[in-house]
Amino acid sequence: MGLCNSKTREGKSSLFNDSNPERINKFFFESGRRFHNVKNAVYFLPNDDDECDRLHLQHFIERYVWQSNFLAPVDRLLNKEGAKVLDVGTGAGSWLLEMATNYPKAKFIGIDISPVQPDFIKPKNTEFIEANVLEPLPFKDNTFDFIFQRILYVGIPGKNWPSVVNELVRVLKPGGYIELMECDFQYNIMGPATKRLINGILLMFDERGLDPTVCYKLRGFLEEHDQLHNVHCEIKKTFDGNDGKKLCKLAQENYTTALVTMKAKLMSIIEASSDEYDELVKTMGNELIEFESFNPRVRVYAQKKI
Ligand SMILES: C[S@@+](CC[C@H](N)C(=O)[O-])C[C@H]1O[C@@H](n2cnc3c(N)ncnc32)[C@H](O)[C@@H]1O
Repeated sequence: MGLCNSKTREGKSSLFNDSNPERINKFFFESGRRFHNVKNAVYFLPNDDDECDRLHLQHFIERYVWQSNFLAPVDRLLNKEGAKVLDVGTGAGSWLLEMATNYPKAKFIGIDISPVQPDFIKPKNTEFIEANVLEPLPFKDNTFDFIFQRILYVGIPGKNWPSVVNELVRVLKPGGYIELMECDFQYNIMGPATKRLINGILLMFDERGLDPTVCYKLRGFLEEHDQLHNVHCEIKKTFDGNDGKKLCKLAQENYTTALVTMKAKLMSIIEASSDEYDELVKTMGNELIEFESFNPRVRVYAQKKI
């Protein structure tokens, strides 16, 4: 059972009640999955409990791959009473909930188009707000000491990235840090089933103006911004260390689960039958493990000039 407060596909009881009229038009349902209903947002993954569980798994994979939750030199800053942190596209709130527990003196605000984060079982120093990062954010200039954004390449069209970064810099305090982390959508090594499915998803990206290689542009966005300096960048190209195989298996599980969530849309794009699609996903899972395929990842941070 996921940490998010939503009703499950199977209708399991939960803290979050989808039959509440105030909530009901926040979502739409398709092929047994629940999605956001924000008209001008392009994000196409669901937001139900199963997806929240996947996002928690993804969080643990990311933390393991990087061996940390962030790169920016903000540890001291986050230990200061009243430091303010913004997590953009917080998802199930996995990163934010862990960080808020580790840094109890700081205040953590998570924004997302989907209100699927815990309502009341959460650390006191947390708040979740519904907001669309493609629009002006509901915060005053110079509000946050640290702004973190991870895996939004599925939600921010390529052409919108510079204006999103600009809006984040507006709400960042002088001297504060902004950190972005994205993956390369393609794997370093791909078998035939992997290629076929990935090519289908690339078409979905194309339809929405999403940029599957935006991770390689993050550094440039921060370097080109005239209010930022001290830009640092780190790239991961493989699963490091002794746990590589185990991590590869978890990453494969995460990806395969995501492919199941996309089944209805993706099988028509790649013109596969339901059984053929299931078989392709299974084969792709085996290919990812056999080749130890990896999506390169980039994380980058910068400081706002004083
Ligand atoms: C792949 S998840 C990543 C979640 C989280 N950042 C993490 O790393 O665990 C992307 C999240 O971004 C949110 N999102 C997508 N488009 C958005 C937008 N335009 N504004 C705000 N949030 C958005 C989605 O609802 C989803 O929760």
